[in-house]
Amino acid sequence: MADTPSMADGDIRRFREGDRGQIISLWARCDLTRPWNNPDADIDRKVSHGDGGLLVATRGDDVIGSVMAGYDGHRGWINYLAVDPSERQHRLGSRLMGAAEEHLRELGCPKINLQIRATNLDARSFYEHLGFLEDEVVGMGKRLIDDQSA
Ligand SMILES: CC(C)(COP(=O)(O)OP(=O)(O)OC[C@H]1O[C@@H](n2cnc3c(N)ncnc32)[C@H](O)[C@@H]1OP(=O)(O)O)[C@@H](O)C(=O)NCCC(=O)NCCS
Repeated sequence: MADTPSMADGDIRRFREGDRGQIISLWARCDLTRPWNNPDADIDRKVSHGDGGLLVATRGDDVIGSVMAGYDGHRGWINYLAVDPSERQHRLGSRLMGAAEEHLRELGCPKINLQIRATNLDARSFYEHLGFLEDEVVGMGKRLIDDQSA
């Protein structure tokens, strides 16, 4: 993806260091932060990975949306999809997902997987509108780094 593609109703571009404070604030407003995750460390890890998969939507100097996309060589994963509450229902979430999809396609990724918190029924409806289907899997996780004591 180009660094600064021009789009109406908010540009979508790669994360820049100057976005850090606003993006963390956005994630908090969108209820995506949890005590056991450290958003600063999550950004550091993604940036050090160097794949350009952390995207932000901006209007002027304001960060109004985000998405983090990553390809593990088999599946593409989506995290931190967020649209500012005041900007919702104007297709920005769809455009962010389109940009993430484009990024993953460019990497040769054949399929996107994502996890939705069981209580997040709104996000489930949103993804269904975008053509996502429920996979018959059980999501499991194992933490390797304790962000609370880091
Ligand atoms: C989910 C989220 C990104 C959607 O952003 P958005 O910009 O409002 O979404 P869009 O305007 O692109 O909506 C696309 C479609 O999904 C539908 N949709 C969006 N939010 C919806 C909701 N809460 N309930 C039902 N449908 C919804 C829209 O009506 C639209 O349908 P259409 O294609 O028929 O017009 C936004 O609500 C958000 O940031 N939520 C909090 C963070 C979150 O839960 N992230 C996902 C974590 S897994």
